Amino acid sequence: MFAPGLLAGKRILITGGGTGLGRSIGSRYLELGAALLICGRRAAVLETAAAELQAETGGHVQTHVCDIRDPAAVDAMMTTIWAEAPLDGLLNNAAGNFISRTERLSPRAFDAVLAVTLHGTAYCTMGVGKRWIEGGRGGSILSIVSTSVFTGRAFTVPSAAAKAGVLAMTRSLAVEWGPRGIRTAAIAPGLFPTAGAMSRLSPAGPDATIAGVPLRRAGDHAEIANLAAFLMSDQAGYINGDCITIDGGRWLAEGAAQNDALFDWTDEQWDQFRGSRKA
Ligand SMILES: NC(=O)c1ccc[n+]([C@@H]2O[C@H](COP(=O)([O-])OP(=O)(O)OC[C@H]3O[C@@H](n4cnc5c(N)ncnc54)[C@H](OP(=O)(O)O)[C@@H]3O)[C@@H](O)[C@H]2O)c1
Repeated sequence: MFAPGLLAGKRILITGGGTGLGRSIGSRYLELGAALLICGRRAAVLETAAAELQAETGGHVQTHVCDIRDPAAVDAMMTTIWAEAPLDGLLNNAAGNFISRTERLSPRAFDAVLAVTLHGTAYCTMGVGKRWIEGGRGGSILSIVSTSVFTGRAFTVPSAAAKAGVLAMTRSLAVEWGPRGIRTAAIAPGLFPTAGAMSRLSPAGPDATIAGVPLRRAGDHAEIANLAAFLMSDQAGYINGDCITIDGGRWLAEGAAQNDALFDWTDEQWDQFRGSRKA
């Protein structure tokens, strides 16, 4: 689909790049010639992913253990990265989310989702942006949001609020940092089965939700990886501040109520889910 070497010469950091969509996108970036850096909280997960990605693609992967909720840790990671060479791209992919009736959420649970999805994304974005501006160079920031940014989403209200904030940041910075050569964009994915998303968001599994997707299937990781490669590449050099949806048309069909079965869950079912999530 792309010329080999589309991303050659680019150093790209993917937050949460050790699992799920971040890992799949990282694999595509490596195939297209990028030097890849991945971060997350779990060293073993990152190291395993890096070894596998290097074996699969022959590319180079650097790992950074970093909890993006901690601004000092993000700043230290960026300083370490810049000591070697500046980044050319940042993919904000790390996030936290789980289903819950909103009236049952504690303030702490609400804050926990905002801390990673909104604040952590902001710390990473500011960390690269200020260094690019200080260094007089540009770069690209791509953020994975959700179709909830358009419709809101029942039972994942903190995430919907956080992702809407990330899209507002994407659009705001497109205008503020565009003149500095920094380009921003976002992707709003639909259903792309990953272990993380299935366990926290779709306990009934992907098959239970496919009926609501007009194309009647889940997304293939290669499809979002190709979109993320294009948007990170110089071929997308005039796309700034936009959000591209890749969901088989699901948000148009289902809007804010994508998990209909949850309206009928009993208190006991919610208790059971909460217990399994903490285990
Ligand atoms: N899969 C879907 O269908 C779907 C749909 C819409 C949007 N999305 C979005 O796509 C992105 C990836 O989701 P996914 O399905 O691939 O889930 P995932 O595999 O659970 O990925 C989340 C990643 O974020 C990292 N992370 C979480 N908290 C972190 C923190 N505080 N600091 C640093 N890293 C942290 C995790 O690593 P550690 O736990 O090791 O830190 C993990 O690698 C998310 O932004 C999600 O909202 C996914």
